[in-house]
Formats: sequence, structure tokens, C-alpha cells
Amino acid sequence: MPGNVDVLFEPFEMGALKLANRIVMAPMTRSFSPGNVPGEDVAAYYRRRAEGGVGLILTEGVSTNTTTASGTPNVPNIVTDEAKAGWARVVSGVKAAGGVIGVQLWHEGAFRNPAKTAHPDIPSWSASGMKVPGKQVGAPMSDAEIETAITEFVDGAVAAKEIGFDCVEFHGAHSYLIDSFFWEETNLRTDKWGGPNWSDRTAFAAEIIHRTRERVGADFPLLIRLSQWKQQDFSARPAKSPDELAQWLTPLVDAGIDIFHCSQRRFWEPEFENSDLNFAGWTQKLSGKPAISVGSVGLSGEFTAAYAGEVSQPASLDELIRRMEAREFDLIAVGRALLQDPDWLKKIRDGRNDELAVFSKDALATLY
Ligand SMILES: Cc1cc2nc3c(=O)[nH]c(=O)nc-3n(C[C@H](O)[C@H](O)[C@H](O)COP(=O)(O)O)c2cc1C
Repeated sequence: MPGNVDVLFEPFEMGALKLANRIVMAPMTRSFSPGNVPGEDVAAYYRRRAEGGVGLILTEGVSTNTTTASGTPNVPNIVTDEAKAGWARVVSGVKAAGGVIGVQLWHEGAFRNPAKTAHPDIPSWSASGMKVPGKQVGAPMSDAEIETAITEFVDGAVAAKEIGFDCVEFHGAHSYLIDSFFWEETNLRTDKWGGPNWSDRTAFAAEIIHRTRERVGADFPLLIRLSQWKQQDFSARPAKSPDELAQWLTPLVDAGIDIFHCSQRRFWEPEFENSDLNFAGWTQKLSGKPAISVGSVGLSGEFTAAYAGEVSQPASLDELIRRMEAREFDLIAVGRALLQDPDWLKKIRDGRNDELAVFSKDALATLY
């Protein structure tokens, strides 16, 4: 099925980050961490992907506090001593297998359902108290809450470095807390954290990055995940032109971001008219920074349809190879194919295409 896959296996180096190949395991919430602590089974799960030769493993989204950050059961945090010890076990297992691993720091923002948490009395946080544009479900974050949220992201990144993670990714995509500031439809603030200009709506993320950079030093790689699409609206396009995208990216680069992770549901979809460059392609071109692409690699259907029960077939990698050979983006993240099969990359490398499996949501039920 695939053409010449060699381009996927080229090493990648950016400062302290040295990867054996171009494949990134996409961050995927697995909800197998009772008490919000990643246990031995979680450590074994990540270690298997390192043994399977994945260039960079990004963890599932990890909560930055124990109150407002998550309403999803069994999602791990990086706050308590027990959780930090759990992550230390994950990191040492991955390193023993020769792998490289970064943590994704996650705050669900308005998508946290307080009723499902141990703190139903604490309201959820978001830029303007909105989950869906035009519909107020809570109060805009106060200055004190914004300060706390920033501090918690920074502390999470500092803890990650101390634990031994090789990099940190801030989850700035998919409508969660950071993304609620980026999108003009959910950020109606008129103070320094919002406004009509991209420089206003990037201020929250830029402050997190800037303060993290001050604490972790110049060499520790910082990534941010961005998406144009929103959970409430797959067709959302906060950046309507390359010029607007540049205005989004530049403050984040200036604050100290090293790599952009550009989330699409299908990596081959062009971002703007009159070019077939995708979101990562434009981001790499406009920011001058390495970019990770993602979305339906090696599978026929996309991931939100998979949640709803659609079964995906193994699919050709030819288009991915073409774009990577053209250097459109630097790295490619793979989600479901690696969730289901820790040896997916070895099978691709060795041309064992008859061993590639269909993906169905049954794979979510176990943590192999
Ligand atoms: C079970 C599951 C959990 C996910 N959890 C996260 C998450 O915690 N953070 C995140 O940024 N994206 C998350 N995603 C999105 C993936 O990172 C990825 O972008 C998406 O699955 C598309 O890649 P794929 O088509 O290769 O699966 C999740 C996807 C799946 C399937």
C-alpha cells in the first residue's frame, strides 16, 4: 500500500529534542487513571509505543489542577505527589525503551461539566463564560482566576521538566480553555485578555508560554496545539487568511514556542483558497518553526466519526509521503492507528500491510 516510506523514518532534531523518526503519537485521552493517577498499566501502554519505535510520544491530556481543569473521569493530573510519581514511572519506562516523551497540559475550560466532578460547586472557567457562541453558561473568568490558570499551566510545565519529560505541549485547541481565548466567538472580553485583534486574544497563551520559558530555560522544548475547527463547529475558521494566521502565530513565537502542533481531522485538507497547503503547512511557512500535522493518517475515516461508531479501514500513506517529501510540515502525529496497535510503525516500515487492522471504537475499551 504505501509508496517509499523512508521519509517517515528520517531523524528530526530541534535543539534538545532529538527524534529517531518523524512519527508522533497524538495525545489521546484514555481515562484509565483512577484517582487521577497514571498507574502501571498506563506506563506499560506508553512503553509499548516506545518499543514500537514511535519517534515522539505525546501523552493524553493531563489536568493542570484538581478542581476546574477536568470533568472527565479518570483523567490524570500532574499536580498531586501520587500523580507525579505515576508520571515518573511512565517516563522511566519510555526512556528504558529508548523513547522520547512529552506531556500534554490540558484545561477543559467550559467543556468541564461541574456536575460530573468532585467540586460541583466550583464553576467552570472560560474566557467569556461561553461554550457555544452566543450562549452564556457562566461568568467570564475573573483576573484572579486568569492569574491562577496561568500559574497552574506554568507549574505543570515545570513539574514535567523535573519529572524528566522531554518536552511539554500546551493544549490550545479543540475549544478548551486556551482556545476559548483565541476564538473571537467565545472571547468577548474587552480587557487585556480579549478584543478585536489577534494580539489581544493570544495574550493569555503568550503569557503562559512566556512565563514557562522563564522557568524552564531556553533549551526545554515547548509545543502548542492549535486547531481552527471547534468541537461545537467543525467549520469554524478563526484565522480567515494566511495574514490572520500569521497574527495568531507571531505572539506565540515571540513568547518562546518551539513547535506548533496543528490539529486537523483530515491532514490532506487545504487550509486556505488557492493553495493545497494544509494547516501545518501554512503554520510552518508563516512562523518559521517546525510544525506537526495530524488527522486520519493510515485510516479511511476521521476520529470524531469513530467516536460515533464508524469503522475505519487501513488507508494509503501516499499523500502523506508526498507532502512530507515536499517538506510541507516536519512531523506527523498518528492517533487511532497507534492507539490500537503499538507496532503500527514497525508494520509500516516493514511493509506488513496485510497486518494493518480496521479501527473501531471497541479499541477504546482496553489499554493495550
Ligand atoms: C480516544 C481519543 C482521545 C483523544 N484525546 C485527545 C486529547 O486528550 N488531546 C488532544 O489534543 N487530542 C485528543 N484527541 C485527538 C487526537 O490527538 C488526534 O488529533 C485525532 O485522533 C486525529 O488523529 P487520528 O485520525 O490519527 O486518530 C483524541 C482522539 C481520540 C481518538
